[in-house]
Amino acid sequence: MLRSQSSIRVFASIARRRYSTAVIRDEFFESAVALTISRNCCMIAMADAAAKESNMTRRPDSKTLSQQRYTQYADGYVTSETHARGSDLDRLLAIAEPQSHWCMLDVATGGGHTALKFAPHVGHVIASDLTPRMLEKAEEFIVKERGAGNVSFRQADAENLPFEDAQFDLVTCRIAPHHFPNAQAFVRECARVLKQGGLLLLQDQLLPDDQEAARFVDDFERLRDPSHHRAFNTAEWRAMFAGAGIALEHSEEYIKRHDFLDWARRQGNDEETIAELIRMLREAAPIARDWMDPRHWGRESATFVNRHILMRGRAN
Ligand SMILES: C[S@@+](CC[C@H](N)C(=O)[O-])C[C@H]1O[C@@H](n2cnc3c(N)ncnc32)[C@H](O)[C@@H]1O
Repeated sequence: MLRSQSSIRVFASIARRRYSTAVIRDEFFESAVALTISRNCCMIAMADAAAKESNMTRRPDSKTLSQQRYTQYADGYVTSETHARGSDLDRLLAIAEPQSHWCMLDVATGGGHTALKFAPHVGHVIASDLTPRMLEKAEEFIVKERGAGNVSFRQADAENLPFEDAQFDLVTCRIAPHHFPNAQAFVRECARVLKQGGLLLLQDQLLPDDQEAARFVDDFERLRDPSHHRAFNTAEWRAMFAGAGIALEHSEEYIKRHDFLDWARRQGNDEETIAELIRMLREAAPIARDWMDPRHWGRESATFVNRHILMRGRAN
């Protein structure tokens, strides 16, 4: 349910971007949203009704949206400092302690940074992703530019992995599950394709336990990237591991500080959306601001943090 003018503006902004194939005036969305609130309807129902009335394309499902956006912005994820050079990759390697005979699967490989980091330490890596264009770019980067000889590529939906049971010693997935509509199904699939005693190594955005702050952090991410589905808090991740029969052995938090403008532009955000993101965080409740710790906010040098969870679990 929408409760504030702030939510109206955020939603209007998301809706405009989702239906970006059509030329739509701001007033149309703002009045449509206001109408929805007065009728006590849900946000998505309003967006779909508006789309129908205007003969626009229907809102694509989450996976189609992910594919569309990662096809469009694939180059940025290969070159992204955040993805390529974070010390979190060193932490993942240290936590996993990989062995040279291991067969590894990297789920949602994106630009291939995790696959590339682990490749020298294992026998073979399959780098998989839902988006074919992302896989092409990852292959170009890992194999042609960096010369890795033990990485192969396979299109795969994280929730329905096209692999045999008990095939892998290690499954990794870094900064991606927040895109998956059914994260529990993804963790179950990891458990299925892991050998008994195999490791699941996961890194993703973490939400605060406070529900209001969590909603804010998720909304902020979704405005910048509408294919962001949902992040989780620590208790939710623990429950998903347990629900899939993965025994959690290690968990830690990691703080990633982002250059705000790089982060926003990597997903093609226009100036209007960037201004809305700046306003949102400026007006956020103290608990959400503390979580995201913005600095130099509103200036070229603005930064903020994403908190991540890194988890290692063992398949039973
Ligand atoms: C931020 S990138 C991943 C970054 C990468 N793992 C790394 O370490 O740099 C997110 C990736 O998730 C992929 N993705 C989104 N939904 C997916 C799904 N259901 N199954 C597999 N991959 C998915 C996107 O295509 C995109 O390449």
